[in-house]
Amino acid sequence: MGVLIRMYSFLKKIIFLFEPEIAHHIIFTFLKFLNHLGVLKLLAPKNSSKERIVFNLKFKNPIGVAAGLDKNAEYINILDKLGFGFIEVGTLTPRPQAGNSKPRIFRLIKDKALINRFGFNNIGIDKAIINIKKSNYDGVLGINIGKNFDTPMENAIDDYLICFRKSYAYAGYITINISSPNTKNLRDLQNTDNFSNLIRQIKSEQLKMSKLHSKYVPFVVKISPDCTNEELDNICEILLENNVDGVITTNTTLLREGLKSEYKTEKGGLSGEPLKTYSLNTQKKIFKNLNGKIPIIGVGGIMNAKDGLERFSNGAELIQIYTGFIYQGNRLINELLKSITQK
Ligand SMILES: Cc1cc2nc3c(=O)[nH]c(=O)nc-3n(C[C@H](O)[C@H](O)[C@H](O)COP(=O)(O)O)c2cc1C
Repeated sequence: MGVLIRMYSFLKKIIFLFEPEIAHHIIFTFLKFLNHLGVLKLLAPKNSSKERIVFNLKFKNPIGVAAGLDKNAEYINILDKLGFGFIEVGTLTPRPQAGNSKPRIFRLIKDKALINRFGFNNIGIDKAIINIKKSNYDGVLGINIGKNFDTPMENAIDDYLICFRKSYAYAGYITINISSPNTKNLRDLQNTDNFSNLIRQIKSEQLKMSKLHSKYVPFVVKISPDCTNEELDNICEILLENNVDGVITTNTTLLREGLKSEYKTEKGGLSGEPLKTYSLNTQKKIFKNLNGKIPIIGVGGIMNAKDGLERFSNGAELIQIYTGFIYQGNRLINELLKSITQK
């Protein structure tokens, strides 16, 4: 077991020689191969069962995969075997789209960070649903949805409604992503009038769908770490007014402070270690405003057990990881799991 966990440190040396997008492909092909051989489960932590009930759903443990790692819902079974307590796929848009031109992801190794400007490259909601149906996952699956880059902003809500309807039957929860910095003007949906309109329409759709499917699927809103205090106040007011089920704090940041790596001036969203403080501060503010009335999923710069515990002690019921997982592999899941106690 220890050998397998340490394997990532060795593999990382080789994998990091490749351009990040190719490396992603190599590592997941390798993990698929290990799964095929039936040995992937050896990488899973011994006791990954630390159940949590949030949104009335039973999570195997409170550590999830953040959106973007499995954009097309292709690796659900693999991520499950690695010990994650829940998996969020996407961001998915109504129509498939290629995303921005390459290179569009950069490793900032000295800063333990990534900058990405993928721009929602994905196979589209319909094909992703086919992948979801093929997986035999029995855990909580989050489906993260967004708008196509070429849908005019005045029709953005329609894109969310299309994806919401199509995801509903297959999702444990649905994430409304309005905080990616890589789709032009997307973050404007966080502005009070737009946000209020979006949330009201999705809430009403949720009501219709819950009757149609005889099941209630919660939706959560993923927000940016770059909001001002005033914006956060308004967002919280609208979340509370509409009984939104949850909030994810946070997406990547456009801020660039104190970075040392050569790619520090690349355009896109910054994640990992340098995001930690911005993301935590946003979570703290949201937690205070929501007064424990709406569950929070904490994500952004969780690189070790201490970071995870800090998110829990500041109001998160669940956490997610992305960049920490890229830098440390499943060792980080193990470390986080060990640090939390069974409730
Ligand atoms: C390469 C990459 C792609 C991402 N793609 C998405 C995405 O499609 N949708 C989304 O909501 N967040 C996306 N994110 C943001 C992550 O889900 C997460 O919120 C952010 O990276 C902060 O967590 P971290 O510091 O642990 O990486 C992406 C992040 C990275 C690094």
